[in-house]
Amino acid sequence: MSIVILNGPNLNMLGIREPEIYGTESLDDIKNWLVDESGIDFQWFQSNSEGDLIDQIQTSQLEKTDIVINPGAFTHYSYGLHDALSSHKAAGLVSIECHLSNPAARESFRQNSVISPAVTGTIAGFGKNVYLLALQEIKSRRGN
Ligand code: DQA
Repeated sequence: MSIVILNGPNLNMLGIREPEIYGTESLDDIKNWLVDESGIDFQWFQSNSEGDLIDQIQTSQLEKTDIVINPGAFTHYSYGLHDALSSHKAAGLVSIECHLSNPAARESFRQNSVISPAVTGTIAGFGKNVYLLALQEIKSRRGN
């Protein structure tokens, strides 16, 4: 079983960016916490660029790697990410969309995800625990 966690635009600013919404921990803090807390092996990637994220999803499909993704604002308008994830899912792989905040309870433009129809499931609104829950779900599905 192989898993990659992908983080989209502006998530490299966690800890600085609107801490009242996203918390005071940096993305590195969250990664280190996940390593300790989950005991699950995963790869980790962040990019502010849509194309880099699409490249990572395509590689994950070819290498049969499951995906946890926080697409950031691309959640709301990236059909490129949608199509890459749709192809990944059609190949029988698992993908989980995660959000630290609960976009459904925020501004109206955040209330639609073009990513949700292309993934296995979505977890939102529980801060950094969303990544842990997603890893645990993939682990239990893969049975090891
Ligand atoms: C986010 C929610 C998105 O609406 C926003 O654009 C982000 C972060 C979250 O983790 O809550 O960048 O994906």
